[in-house]
Amino acid sequence: MTLEEIYARLDDPSRPLYFRADGRLGEAGGAEVAAVIPALSPADFGSPAFREEYGLKLAYVGGAMVGGISSRAMVRALAEGGALGIFGASGLPPSRVEEEVAALNLELAGRPFGSCLIHAPHDPAWEERVTEIYLKHRVRVIEASAFMQITPHLVRYRLSGAFRRPDGTVVLPNRILAKVSRLELAKRFFAPPPEKLVRAALERGWLTPAEAELAPLAPLAGDLTAEADSGGHTDFRPALTLWPALAAAAREAAARQGYPVPLRVGAAGGLGTPWAILAARAAGVDYFVTGSINQSCLESGLAPAARELLAKAGQADMASGPAADMFEMGARVQVLKFGTLYAMRAQKLAELHRQHQALEDIPAAERENLETQIFKAPLAEIWKQTRLFFMEREPAQVERAERDAKHKMALVFRWYLGQASRWAIAGAEDRRADWQILCGPAQGAFNEWARGSLYEKAENRRVMDLALNLFHGAAVLIRRQMARTLGVAPPGPAPELKPRPAAELAGFAGG
Ligand SMILES: Cc1cc2nc3c(=O)[nH]c(=O)nc-3n(C[C@H](O)[C@H](O)[C@H](O)COP(=O)(O)O)c2cc1C
Repeated sequence: MTLEEIYARLDDPSRPLYFRADGRLGEAGGAEVAAVIPALSPADFGSPAFREEYGLKLAYVGGAMVGGISSRAMVRALAEGGALGIFGASGLPPSRVEEEVAALNLELAGRPFGSCLIHAPHDPAWEERVTEIYLKHRVRVIEASAFMQITPHLVRYRLSGAFRRPDGTVVLPNRILAKVSRLELAKRFFAPPPEKLVRAALERGWLTPAEAELAPLAPLAGDLTAEADSGGHTDFRPALTLWPALAAAAREAAARQGYPVPLRVGAAGGLGTPWAILAARAAGVDYFVTGSINQSCLESGLAPAARELLAKAGQADMASGPAADMFEMGARVQVLKFGTLYAMRAQKLAELHRQHQALEDIPAAERENLETQIFKAPLAEIWKQTRLFFMEREPAQVERAERDAKHKMALVFRWYLGQASRWAIAGAEDRRADWQILCGPAQGAFNEWARGSLYEKAENRRVMDLALNLFHGAAVLIRRQMARTLGVAPPGPAPELKPRPAAELAGFAGG
């Protein structure tokens, strides 16, 4: 068999390969077989316990994307493919979140899905209301993100409905996938819900005494997603240093607390090619979370023109910009800088906010520039709209802004940051230069890999086809590595590995 033929066989992970003692390749097992390169399927990626607990075929999660970008259609496509989709509830009014999760319950008829609970320090009423919606509609998985501390809503969600079986096992029907980039926060999520917050929830009638009593026996979150350099909110942590640290935290917490089941760690951030999946699998992560690459797919809630832009981006086409929701805290998000001026303009606003105490302190020429270039309206008009918005939603913000000119400036600037994301979702052509598209380098990496293939164009991208291609490509790489270890390797570089049409992956996916 030629090396070319061997590679053709290696690149079909649905069939095992048998190497005989004489160095030749055999068709089947037997006494003369010296080494086997096993068949691999998507089930060989991630933890079987994770798949079982969440009722999945693949340990693959399409992470939440704000404003319904991870749309109902995306969540449905992932569920149909046996993966877990998280609805992008953040940034949406609670009434819309309720509509969407109620519809998902109907459409998915028992298939698993999750929804996002984002920490909203500037709008705690949102966190409370959305938690109530999740409990009311029995949303059994939430992705908890951007938390800097544990809040009573997380505790309420996790313990609601908890009970003990006659054999003594504690059952918590509500699961939290907690997204973290820092070790200290990981430790808090892996600990049982804090006693003080459990007591407070009990006093508010959010939990029954029987539910509260079980609090010390289980972690607040059994699954923790290590979010490395990613699209959206990010601390820009390198994945390679974050994974082992969080895995060690999981082991320590499980040993300290004596939980009956292990804690799990998933990887998010930078997963956009088989090479990244290969590295995460080698590090032993329990599940894989993608975000950026899904945003350019057909099922995404982002406007088609914005998806096309994403499909053209390279790895270096991302920039860090101020986060709209945590603007005054200085939180950062990663955004696309290719084809939009948003990153530059938002940064300008952050600098002005840092340098000045009030809108009126900004030099007149600069203010005029803001009004003509960025806001395209007088700042007084923007304040009028912002004031109206907050009077309905959170009047305390208006009271504070009328006392504190710097806060007023922040609210006005946040108008732009918030609208910019809506303009991208809606595909507003007159605001193309202002589109805010959260995105990480994984998107560029995928684009580079997909160049010349069917998936070069956004219109051909479907979330599950990408997911299967990532696992398939990684399976091919694993088998090539095994062959190399056995001394079967080409003298030059291995043949190019490209994503394949979905039909060619059927054998692998069904395996
Ligand atoms: C457009 C966009 C919006 C996002 N919005 C949220 C969000 O609302 N909540 C959340 O937990 N994560 C959010 N994320 C993060 C993703 O769920 C996921 O963790 C991350 O994108 C994974 O890293 P990657 O971008 O490198 O694939 C967002 C990511 C993107 C690209």
